Amino acid sequence: MKPGRHFLQIPGPTNVPDRVLRAIAEPTIDHRGPAFAALGREVLEGLQRVFQTEGSVVIYPSSGTGAWEAALVNTLSPGDRVLMFETGHFAALWRDMAVRLGLNVEFVEGDWRHGVDPDVVHARLVDDREKTIRAVAIVHNETSTGVTSRVAEVRKQMDAANHPALLLVDTISSLGSIDYRHDEWGVDVTVGGSQKGLMLPPGLGFNAISAKALAASRAARLPKAYWDWAPMLRDNRNGFFPYTPATNLLYGLREALQMLFEERLPHVFARHTRFGEATRRAVRAWGLEILAVNPDEYSNSLTAVIVPESHDADRLRQAILEHYDMSLGTGLGRLKGKVFRIGHLGDLNDLMLAGTLSGVEMGLAICRVPFNPGGVSAALAYLSVAGD
Ligand SMILES: Cc1ncc(COP(=O)(O)O)c(C=O)c1O
Repeated sequence: MKPGRHFLQIPGPTNVPDRVLRAIAEPTIDHRGPAFAALGREVLEGLQRVFQTEGSVVIYPSSGTGAWEAALVNTLSPGDRVLMFETGHFAALWRDMAVRLGLNVEFVEGDWRHGVDPDVVHARLVDDREKTIRAVAIVHNETSTGVTSRVAEVRKQMDAANHPALLLVDTISSLGSIDYRHDEWGVDVTVGGSQKGLMLPPGLGFNAISAKALAASRAARLPKAYWDWAPMLRDNRNGFFPYTPATNLLYGLREALQMLFEERLPHVFARHTRFGEATRRAVRAWGLEILAVNPDEYSNSLTAVIVPESHDADRLRQAILEHYDMSLGTGLGRLKGKVFRIGHLGDLNDLMLAGTLSGVEMGLAICRVPFNPGGVSAALAYLSVAGD
């Protein structure tokens, strides 16, 4: 028996608000009946506001990985050249998927501490004189590293290179927490998931689709059936789905969207900006290093913290779980044991963040990791003067 509430401070899945849990608990309805059509339309329109697009959004009963696959198979053909960037673990997994699907991926190496360099995008596209690169696929917020890539600048460099490649962007850990503008930034397919900024359990994947991506889908020849946009878009027009949708998660989505709109999206983004800054102030005061190198690329939804070399980040996480009932994110891939990740996104307020940082500071002490006390005080000093 552990009294009090578990602190789920991994960078997704995030805490699911009680309002959303209650909505999900409503009885399942006929997904071909009139009540469902209203629900379908409402969530599809609400998602357009979150993706900041006038174009179509589709919802799959899948995790984010399914939505990655949908973005690729709907827009590309076997052997197509795709430019991808090694910003971290998730970028590497998306690359692996693209290779397995039969795409010809050029993977620009990276050190897992920087985002996509827009100048490299420009140089690679200018070099492609025959214009055979079909897509540039990047991760907006690398959940493994806490580095956010500058999507608008990438777009600018693609335009400067006068290149027709599609721009595909993964926003799985930024949607609903970091400002993201599908239309304004000229993104062709945006990939999202339910379990992070949208404050839902895992189980829904999204694609936001530009007119150019839709046109590309008509010529794309990678095999697809379940992920095919065409039947989805056809049935979505009336609020329905071509197969049984995840009805109860859609109830939750309706409630979560309502919550985001009640708070107002600019405020949601500002709240996450404050939490990111407060967390970084705590880490610096502890004398620990933030994995992200470039302040322009700091993630406001999570912070990856490097532990001193003689210590194991997973042992620290385990001690914090045992003593304080708090889950922190593990180091993924080549970062295993070297970093822990503090999730500060989703349904979170100042006191929850203060509790999270307190758990980290106490954990550092019990594990005898060398650090300077005062991180929590630095965060509190910032939170109490930086209005929201
Ligand atoms: C940036 C990013 N992309 C893709 C994924 C994969 O999504 P899922 O685990 O929901 O399939 C994740 C999961 O955490 C992620 O953070």
